[in-house]
Amino acid sequence: MVERRWAVIPAAGHGERFGGRVAKQYATLLGRPVLSWSLAALLAERSIAGVVVAIAPGDRRFRRLAEAADPRVRTCRGGVRRELSVASALDALAGEARDEDWVLVHDAVRPCLCHGDLQALIRAAGHDPIGGLLATPLGDTLKSEGPDGRSARTVPRAGLWRALTPQMFRYGVLRRALALCLERDRAVTDEASAVEALGLAPMLVRGRADNIKVTHPEDRALATAILEAGAKHENRPRLRRPRV
Ligand code: CTP
Ligand code: MG
Repeated sequence: MVERRWAVIPAAGHGERFGGRVAKQYATLLGRPVLSWSLAALLAERSIAGVVVAIAPGDRRFRRLAEAADPRVRTCRGGVRRELSVASALDALAGEARDEDWVLVHDAVRPCLCHGDLQALIRAAGHDPIGGLLATPLGDTLKSEGPDGRSARTVPRAGLWRALTPQMFRYGVLRRALALCLERDRAVTDEASAVEALGLAPMLVRGRADNIKVTHPEDRALATAILEAGAKHENRPRLRRPRV
């Protein structure tokens, strides 16, 4: 039986750390909303059968995105936490996705994903019994804060990675993993942490460190520069003129 691939984009957050007039997934980078970049990066992968975007109740911006008209794209109602938004998108695929199908979960606010990394994840994790995630080894020296707020000690960074997205797991495993964490009220910051709670060890697939998450206001300039630089290389979604 042919394995199918689906994608899920949690896009229902309010972007409190980023601030601004509109939620950060709709802030523009080079004239195009952040979510538009992230969604286009996934749609560039023709082997993905469908993409479910979890949006906040009352979101009127999503349907104005050029990518919203793509026949592979649909939306669902997001939840009050990221993992609830992901769970809701997985629910929306019930009946269509089979347990053994792969699901790629990608943050709406990671607009700089390059096609090469997406393909590397699909290739590597797709041959793994558990699945995996894009990640990058830590570059900075880590400090542990003492009770006085000062640097108490240096944490060895060897063997530590930053988890990125997409993260790719089997539909059935991911649904079960998230349901278990929600039931036990366990904090889930990414899909891999939910899968780890099942006792499974996801594969770390090394990705580019510039697949950043737009979190703070200063990330906007950074993401713009990364997209501009990436436009010069072929393995990134091409820069397109914004629609007027
Ligand atoms: N997200 C979601 N539903 C939520 C919260 C977050 O779908 N209830 C999504 C965000 O839209 C984002 C991704 O999860 O694409 C990563 O979350 P984060 O960077 O924390 O975004 P926000 O929660 O919007 O930002 P903040 O935590 O600063 O409020
Ligand atoms: Mg958040």
